[in-house]
Amino acid sequence: MDRIKITGGARLEGSIPISGAKNAALPLMIASLLTEDRLTLKNVPNLADVNLLARILRNHGVDLAVDGKRSGGTPHLGETFHLTARDISDTTAPYELVSRMRASFWVLGPLVARMGVAKVSLPGGCAIGTRPVDLHLMGLRELGAEIEIDAGYVIAKAPKGLVGGHVLFPTVSVGATHNVLLAATLAKGETLIENAAREPEVGDVASCLVKMGAEIEGIGTSTLRIQGKPRLEGAVHTVLPDRIETGTFAFAVAATGGDVVLEGARRELLRNALDTLATTGASVSDTETGVRIQRNGNRLEAVDVETQPFPGFPTDLQAQLMALMTRAHGTSVIRETIFENRFMHVQELARLGADIKLHGDTATIKGVKALRGAPVMATDLRASVSLVIAGLMAEGETIINRVYHLDRGFERLEEKLSRCGARIERISAG
Ligand code: EPZ
Repeated sequence: MDRIKITGGARLEGSIPISGAKNAALPLMIASLLTEDRLTLKNVPNLADVNLLARILRNHGVDLAVDGKRSGGTPHLGETFHLTARDISDTTAPYELVSRMRASFWVLGPLVARMGVAKVSLPGGCAIGTRPVDLHLMGLRELGAEIEIDAGYVIAKAPKGLVGGHVLFPTVSVGATHNVLLAATLAKGETLIENAAREPEVGDVASCLVKMGAEIEGIGTSTLRIQGKPRLEGAVHTVLPDRIETGTFAFAVAATGGDVVLEGARRELLRNALDTLATTGASVSDTETGVRIQRNGNRLEAVDVETQPFPGFPTDLQAQLMALMTRAHGTSVIRETIFENRFMHVQELARLGADIKLHGDTATIKGVKALRGAPVMATDLRASVSLVIAGLMAEGETIINRVYHLDRGFERLEEKLSRCGARIERISAG
């Protein structure tokens, strides 16, 4: 298994291109199941999760062609995918594939909407929490799907098609919102989704669906009103920039000191996280091409944060903020309200000398004078990258094991960081 070696202490200077958002690219690719026509997605990041979903979609009969990268093109624009689901040859998403990536469960809604039947493996828990799918099933039942669970599979049926309904989510779920929104575009009549997730990736998917001929009101708000159509058409859509990658690099620059422009980043996608970063003493400003982060010698102040659905502070940046806070002046309190077990980075950060106490959903981080490099283990995607940030700040050498977690969600991480002066390299397993 590959490892990453970091020698800490280098300032970051220069620019980092921000890739297309993983968490928008995945549901956008799934949207291709809704039409016989071609859906072209531009700026798709080259990530393990994207490649796995491509395999899953091919298994359903989706034809996928990928354009070569343009030489000399805009550096932060990713690949172009052409997806055509002319015939769906298989409505089953098997355990072997779904269990490896939770978002693949989101094929359930589109498949039952278009084909009247879908059989999708339950995704199971994962490192960050139990992560049930009850809200997905509740939403699809409201649209008339008959759902049973048998031998680890969800079997959804709507032989006469789905019908519009009223879905009121008791708690905000990004995935359940995607699943129901995608399905509702092909249901008969109107669907009202209340307490929908407002994450920018949901808005991006909704905008793409509108290009495909869907009628959706309330994009960007927590109330979505969808008029179902008998069929959708092809479209061309560009995946929005990754706000979590943006935030991660922004925190890395603040952690090491330095001056970096995050090319292609859009501040409004993560205003809360960047405002939080500014309170720690880093400077955040807009440039013509992206967002500039600077911290020059001033001390890092501790901040208290609670994770919340968008527009609050994102859970996907909680670990990275914690890494930063390990060196802050004072004590920071971070409360995780979205996932019950998203603190696996704590014990690894402690190996580098961080002082963190955990009580239930709350971590108290007392800033220390220095971190010392050590061997650590990546546990999930965002936890892993928090170890990269800590390694960049630490004295000496940090070796991160199990870096396949990073490859699921960060494109060319070592290259992007080393171009700005970080001493980071991948040690291939050979
Ligand atoms: C999405 O996961 C993201 N994944 C996650 O990013 C992100 O952390 C999460 O949203 C929250 O922002 C993708 O977009 C691919 P949820 P999702 O349904 O949709 C509970 C990353 O690192 N819940 O909004 O699975 C659930 O257990 C990943 O890129 C139910 O109880 O998250 C959690 O506590 C990790 N029942 C909360 O809701 C359900 O049916 C929010 O989960 C569904 C969810």
